[in-house]
Amino acid sequence: MARQSLQLELAERPTGAIVPGRTFRQRRVAAPTEADLQDGQVLLECLYVSFDPAMRGWLDDRRSYVPPVQIGEVMRAATISRVLASRSARIRAGDIVTVPMGIREVGIASEDQVEPAPPALLSAGGKMTDLLGVFGLTGMTAYFGMLKIGEPKPGETVVVSAAAGATGSVAAQIAKIAGARVVGTAGSDEKCRWLTEELGLDVALNYKDPDFKAKFKQATPKFIDVFFDNVGGEQLDMALGRANAFSRFVMCGGISQYNAESKSGPRNFNSIISQRIKMQGFIVFDFAKEYSTARAQIAKWLGEGKLKRRETIIKGGVAASDEAFKQLFQGGNIGKLLVEVKNPDEVSRL
Ligand SMILES: NC(=O)c1ccc[n+]([C@@H]2O[C@H](COP(=O)([O-])OP(=O)(O)OC[C@H]3O[C@@H](n4cnc5c(N)ncnc54)[C@H](OP(=O)(O)O)[C@@H]3O)[C@@H](O)[C@H]2O)c1
Repeated sequence: MARQSLQLELAERPTGAIVPGRTFRQRRVAAPTEADLQDGQVLLECLYVSFDPAMRGWLDDRRSYVPPVQIGEVMRAATISRVLASRSARIRAGDIVTVPMGIREVGIASEDQVEPAPPALLSAGGKMTDLLGVFGLTGMTAYFGMLKIGEPKPGETVVVSAAAGATGSVAAQIAKIAGARVVGTAGSDEKCRWLTEELGLDVALNYKDPDFKAKFKQATPKFIDVFFDNVGGEQLDMALGRANAFSRFVMCGGISQYNAESKSGPRNFNSIISQRIKMQGFIVFDFAKEYSTARAQIAKWLGEGKLKRRETIIKGGVAASDEAFKQLFQGGNIGKLLVEVKNPDEVSRL
């Protein structure tokens, strides 16, 4: 029988959170084959899919930094995939690549969408899944957001929200490497213990603790010089209230608002003026030309043991997508969240 490919298609735009079994439809289609390839294209099988909070934003039909996913389209996602067949001079069958192939088991991509795994990174203490983690977009976001926008100085106080996530955990450690005193916030005591005991943050606070507000104030006695925000909402407001003069607010994400049907903005807005805060949003793609520099530095820090990373891998393939979205928005992950679509050690067939 011809090979089938399971894919996740957008069925209906959510108004709030993604609704399991309703927002997306899973459909089995005939898998493309080598015979379908045109010059410059490659046939791929997916090994891992990256689950990113930004995916929720791509479901809304509004102007953004990328066009929305259309109803009926395969859900956009970054993947680690293996090349099954190639009509590209640059990419060979058997290569492991990163490619925004969407949530599907087998697909075709043009060679300019495909990035071969740099062997130097993997040999420098990296592993395959790092291609979507520390060496992928979340690692790049942490690196450029913290160093180019946050610019932490030795002795300054840096606060990172969603600090046990893929981006936050790397951003917080980079601030430590820069010599700052680092406070992280996260949604469980287990995550907070990981941040202080394993990653070396100075303080980690569980934002679900009833005394969170008081503890946030205690943890920032000299106020905040850099706030790396992944969450927005209430935590952004609290950080504005504790901002130092001339502090930098790195506006990386606002996950607390992504599913909210009515978005709430900060009340402490006037602090931006009184404390002369520089607040800057960014999209990681702005730094694409510098990724290789960042990856080399991150590989060095990994090798020296200065930077640690963790990942949460959900098994179950494309069918586990609803579960992965649920975990992402309910804090089920520590570090980078991935779904394993195929065990890389399993034999492939065309
Ligand atoms: N600007 C860019 O180019 C760029 C690129 C990549 C990512 N980002 C942003 O960076 C942020 C982190 O992304 P990531 O991929 O690294 O994801 P992640 O932090 O690994 O996972 C998301 C985490 O957010 C926390 N969270 C979920 N809902 C929350 C809520 N209502 N309030 C507070 N925390 C909540 C959860 O942890 P807890 O248990 O701590 O709640 C969850 O584990 C996101 O806002 C994302 O959009 C921006």
